[in-house]
Amino acid sequence: LSLEETMTRSKLFDLKGIPLTQPIASVWDQVWKFKARPDDVLIATYAKAGTTWTQEIVDMIQQNGDTEKCKRDTTYKRHPFLEWFTPEPPSARYSGVELAEAMPSPRTIKTHLPVQLLPPSFWEQNCKIIYVARNAKDNLVSYYHFHRMNKELPDPGTWEEFVEKFVTGQVLWGSWYDHVKGWWKAKDKHRILYLFYEDMKENPKQEIQKIAKFLEKDLSQEVLNKIVHNTSFEVMKENPMANYTKDFEGIMDHSISPFMRKGTVADWKNHFTVAQNEKFDEDYKKKMLQVDRFLPTNK
Ligand code: A3P
Repeated sequence: LSLEETMTRSKLFDLKGIPLTQPIASVWDQVWKFKARPDDVLIATYAKAGTTWTQEIVDMIQQNGDTEKCKRDTTYKRHPFLEWFTPEPPSARYSGVELAEAMPSPRTIKTHLPVQLLPPSFWEQNCKIIYVARNAKDNLVSYYHFHRMNKELPDPGTWEEFVEKFVTGQVLWGSWYDHVKGWWKAKDKHRILYLFYEDMKENPKQEIQKIAKFLEKDLSQEVLNKIVHNTSFEVMKENPMANYTKDFEGIMDHSISPFMRKGTVADWKNHFTVAQNEKFDEDYKKKMLQVDRFLPTNK
């Protein structure tokens, strides 16, 4: 039997009010006690908000636009995924914490944890954090397709069922609404650069410059343009070190839905019915009253 045939999809477990997978729950003590270093950079997102894209931008900035250096390894191996732990396949049985501990500084680390579950050491060390938020409906659509292609995640059920799970926060890493709001509140108290996927799409150069400034890196126009080009969706889709075709073989099935799926804004319009959209917006307004910036984009 192939791995694909023997794999069972994860069930979600409640960890301090957040649904996480059993493997994550099993390494939670390690995660919570994680020792951040002052020069760690953390990229925090809700899953499918543009993490991989931001990781590539950050790496390209740190390597001063050297594409060969950025191809030293896959995204997954360049930047430890803090809370992740994969028991399968055995060849990849290590946790994000172990990967991070073995990595020399300066490190860039990825997490999808909601703000209240971030290991305290990141705050104590005053690490720089880049948070990226994506509009709720596109984030939902992307997450739905990712569940279809990633056998390590719970079965998404039908589209209708998945919308319901997303809206009620019954998905891995919990409520999108609480996630973006929690990190939004934290940004006034900590070193957090809060970015939006839609701004990155609209004006990549400007947003890349913001990140470079936050990381205190001076980039020439030439390097900046090179980063804009190499972190475009079209180029990253063809980059085996950034498109997830080299990790999670037998777990991610790109023939069902590629990791680099569409990379656009407002794909939700191809998924939501008019009734679904109205119901979603009604609920959204109640949950997001405090934060205007998150109102669904009508682009
Ligand atoms: P879609 O499923 O809408 O295409 P994450 O990295 O957080 O898992 O997010 C994945 C989403 O970001 C996918 O969205 C993917 O296509 C998109 N993405 C990846 N690289 C991108 C890029 N360079 N530009 C725009 N979108 C990108």
